[in-house]
Amino acid sequence: MMRSIVVVGSQWGDEGKGKVTNYYSAKADIVVRYQGGNNAGHTVKFDGQEFHLQTIPSGIFNEKTLNILGNGMVINPISLYSEMKTLLDAGFKLNNMVISSRANVDLNYHLELDGLKEAHLKDKKIGTTKKGIGPCYTDKISRDGIRFADFIDEDFPKIYAEHLKEKNEEIARYGGTPIDLEKSLKEYEKLSEFFKPYVKETVSILAKAKKASKKILFEGAQGTMLDIDFGTYPYVSSSNSSAGGAITGSGIGIGYIEGVVGIVKAYTTRVGEGPFVTELFNDLADNIREKAHEYGVVTHRPRRIGYLDLNQLRYSRNVNGFDYFALMLLDILSGIDEIKVCTSYELDGKIIDYVPASLKETYRCKPVYVTLPGWKEDISKVRKFEDLPINAQNYVKFIEKEIDAHACLISVGPDHNETIIKEDIF
Ligand code: IMO
Ligand code: MG
Repeated sequence: MMRSIVVVGSQWGDEGKGKVTNYYSAKADIVVRYQGGNNAGHTVKFDGQEFHLQTIPSGIFNEKTLNILGNGMVINPISLYSEMKTLLDAGFKLNNMVISSRANVDLNYHLELDGLKEAHLKDKKIGTTKKGIGPCYTDKISRDGIRFADFIDEDFPKIYAEHLKEKNEEIARYGGTPIDLEKSLKEYEKLSEFFKPYVKETVSILAKAKKASKKILFEGAQGTMLDIDFGTYPYVSSSNSSAGGAITGSGIGIGYIEGVVGIVKAYTTRVGEGPFVTELFNDLADNIREKAHEYGVVTHRPRRIGYLDLNQLRYSRNVNGFDYFALMLLDILSGIDEIKVCTSYELDGKIIDYVPASLKETYRCKPVYVTLPGWKEDISKVRKFEDLPINAQNYVKFIEKEIDAHACLISVGPDHNETIIKEDIF
């Protein structure tokens, strides 16, 4: 049994991380979000009510679980406030949540610039969520960011005014409308007061928890193929969404992480632009989209659909080092006669077993498929692996063998009990 695990998306996000982190967070003493911001989104059911989380970690519904918004995050205080307000109104006290004083503040000029830059890129646009994520991380790396320690400091108005002056010049260069200083400060100063009690130094909190053998869950957002280093660059998000981000984005020592669980969707989806080797443009894609309601939670865009890509998953397994994976949405494949899975890519007549760095090469990659027999049965009531139709079992075993990792959890429906626990790991 592991006491500190990272749950990480192994594809392009939307793998069903929400359901898995909810499951594990019920057993966790601490849940840490380590990167991204409100570009992420998932729906959580608690006590018959549905909540929509974008920035807050999924352990928030359990009073005894401490939820840390880690230093690797970029946090929009306006949207975080409204997320918190919904929960406060629903009766949650939220005294089980802290924000790292090192987390960067995603501000109104970041959002403005995200939209303007996308418009400027025209047909080369990334297809971002327009939440300011890229511009905020850009400021962080160029040492021009504002962190929560500064946000709650009495000097914040001065620092913000200095930044806004420069940012407004940039906004004007892109043909945008400058942001009003007075109006912005009025809102941000109120929020700065509101957030003061939540902002803490979190490295020491994690260190103490580890010393006391507490169970810690690191909750990843996005997915490995959207990672700034390992994803399909430049069609990626701007953070290390792979497991390595859990170290730098939380301040936990690298030696303290005991394991990684990759979240794998039984087929592939992506939202936004960029290469997608196993993408489908047929009825099957449309059927999957409708059956699984594959539309973005944050932007409501229809998601692109494709077959499972084991070449990409193997790469993802290597990047994250996961020995275990949770297989999500397996029920969606019920009723398909034959299911193709991609086992490698063919690039210019050669078989390759990695994902190329070059965008041009990735666009030239053709999927090499193996066809597996499907199953007809509704599997949503199955709770034991052995009770799955044999072809569904074989589909899982094929993935296990190809990527050299074990399925620890299999999701057979959206509800939290529609789950097969194959191995108890946390
Ligand atoms: P969750 O956590 C799927 C995608 C965007 C775009 C690219 C860059 O719900 O799985 P950004 O706004 O981050 O600069 O956009 O990344 N993207 C996601 N796709 N799920 C997500 O999060 C995503 N967060 C960002 O669509 O292609
Ligand atoms: Mg999502």
